[in-house]
Amino acid sequence: MSIQSFGYRDNVFCCNRTPLTDLAEKVGTPCYVYSGDAIVDNYRAYSRTLENLDHEIHYSVKANSTLGVLSLLTREGAGFDVVSGGELFRVISSGGDPKKVVFSGVGKTPSEIEYALKCGVKMFNCESEPEAHALALTAQKLNKRPDIGFRVNPDINAETHPYIATGMHEHKFGIPIREAEQIYKRFASNDHLNLVGVSCHIGSQIFDSGPFLETLDTITTLVERLKKIDIPISCLDLGGGLAVAYRDSETTPSIEKFLGQLTEKLRGENLHLILEPGRSIVGPAGVLLTRVLYRKRSDAKEFIIVDAAMNDLIRPSLYDSYHEIVPLIRSGRPKIIADIVGPICETGDFLARRREIEDSKPGEVLAVCTAGAYGFALASNYNARPRPPEVLVQNSNFKIIRERESYADLIRGESL
Ligand code: LLP
Repeated sequence: MSIQSFGYRDNVFCCNRTPLTDLAEKVGTPCYVYSGDAIVDNYRAYSRTLENLDHEIHYSVKANSTLGVLSLLTREGAGFDVVSGGELFRVISSGGDPKKVVFSGVGKTPSEIEYALKCGVKMFNCESEPEAHALALTAQKLNKRPDIGFRVNPDINAETHPYIATGMHEHKFGIPIREAEQIYKRFASNDHLNLVGVSCHIGSQIFDSGPFLETLDTITTLVERLKKIDIPISCLDLGGGLAVAYRDSETTPSIEKFLGQLTEKLRGENLHLILEPGRSIVGPAGVLLTRVLYRKRSDAKEFIIVDAAMNDLIRPSLYDSYHEIVPLIRSGRPKIIADIVGPICETGDFLARRREIEDSKPGEVLAVCTAGAYGFALASNYNARPRPPEVLVQNSNFKIIRERESYADLIRGESL
């Protein structure tokens, strides 16, 4: 993205200008480190690109829902996209305004619907007719008439990892595009719902703006058809999905370039645009620091055993995803090929396989890069491992925004 916040200065890996070696000593490992400046900069790249359009940027909370991250974005004026009552609670706890929240998600529970209605969220993105009926019922009970949109499934291939593609007809998301007009007709005059929007999200880690533009065409055609039958749509929510570079060799389109054609197409359309970026705001703005515990060699392989594991960062195990891994101190040692693995009792517990890396000895700290999105957010306590702390670096200062969990945290709420 636009700020290169992580990099070497005099062979020491830094966040902004702060050497991460000192930070790792003070905070301990494993630990997540975020550049507040990069998060803000990435958010601003979106708002700059869209400044001539009637728009709102709703940061997708699922990518990283830590209060210190959310409050940074609240201060920038961001709205939020949430998919659970818990995420809404987090936004409010971080000082965010529920009136700037869209509530998405395929399985909102009755209590989540009630909570969101009481908080007065900006809009519900409904994903099925039964869900819209459930929302209408609760709205009636509470004497409310929320703004809603339907999430449409456009049957478009986003060409990404199958687990994070969401816009094809076999996926669980949204209402089928072929049935959309009929469904809108059935809800247009509902006394308890105010039908104002169409929403869509075709997937995540998308490099090519082609499927995005195709989706926009499909959706604007639907909006035209709805207009002809007197169902005026004022709000278009196109979701998130812009890819980030996980490999040094990868190039991603800038936010400006990716959205260029989209903004051209929407100019003069008289529609309020919402985008829900997550990964592209926080992904490149975070690293996971981990210390080498042991080295081990088998007949077949060289292993670097580190103190972070799949419970801290599950992306490599779950999606076979690649994260660059670099030593905090670069010394030009010869490189080796090794598997970088954690302490968890599963063969699937790895951060990298067959990776070329500077020969790293026990005690050294490594940085797992581009870990700001879907890193901590997907962390668990598997193997009864306390989750790591999170640290925010801003203007060369760092602040712990989430403490390392303790053993007492591990058993909170349990009884014998
Ligand atoms: N809006 C909706 C409705 C979504 O489902 C998502 C992501 C986003 C926005 C944000 O998309 P982004 O800009 O972050 O691509 N755990 C996976 C990613 C799952 C994404 C789920 N939905 C990973 O680690 O790659």
